[in-house]
Amino acid sequence: MRISLIAAMGQNRAMGLKGRLPWPPLPEDWDNLHRVTAGRKMIMGRKTYDTPDRVWSPEGNLVITRQRDYEVEPGFERVPTLEEALERYRNEEEVFVLGGAKIFEQALPLAGTLHLTLIHGTFEADTFFPEFDRDAFLEISRRDHPADERHPFAFTFFVYERKSVD
Ligand SMILES: NC(=O)c1ccc[n+]([C@@H]2O[C@H](COP(=O)([O-])OP(=O)(O)OC[C@H]3O[C@@H](n4cnc5c(N)ncnc54)[C@H](OP(=O)(O)O)[C@@H]3O)[C@@H](O)[C@H]2O)c1
Repeated sequence: MRISLIAAMGQNRAMGLKGRLPWPPLPEDWDNLHRVTAGRKMIMGRKTYDTPDRVWSPEGNLVITRQRDYEVEPGFERVPTLEEALERYRNEEEVFVLGGAKIFEQALPLAGTLHLTLIHGTFEADTFFPEFDRDAFLEISRRDHPADERHPFAFTFFVYERKSVD
């Protein structure tokens, strides 16, 4: 199973503020997320589930929480750990981890692919994308998107793949 992460961050690694994204909606970033994750199941932390910007997959969604009585909406299931989430989806070809920062910290050492959108700005934030070993990954693509009337910031889509160990 390939474990893929998908995230957007500012140049200061900002990724969340008060339970929301720190920047105004960027439609092409949402479109990219939906294209990249199409047909795949998703894993997310409870706070990422519990945001108005929630993303979900029609294929299946696991919400990681320590709260045993936490109720999730139809289409989502609760799991107590990332390990259990990955075990549940072990027969999938690829699963997407959507964040937030707490879940990324745990998933980064396991990830084969990173889809990162770098937004060309610095943002006030209370949640930051974790530091990780960039040398373990190879940049396999990058695509720039300019600021325009629908996008107040320019951004770049990066895809990284973990280098093979041999
Ligand atoms: N820019 C992006 O790409 C992006 C992506 C996703 C989210 N976000 C933003 O990031 C923020 C949310 O991220 P976050 O880091 O605060 O929260 P999060 O990672 O989404 O969720 C944290 C919660 O997950 C559960 N959890 C974490 N580790 C666990 C473990 N080892 N075992 C069991 N449960 C565990 C806990 O839930 P309980 O408290 O219920 O036990 C914890 O409170 C929001 O502002 C959101 O908008 C941004």
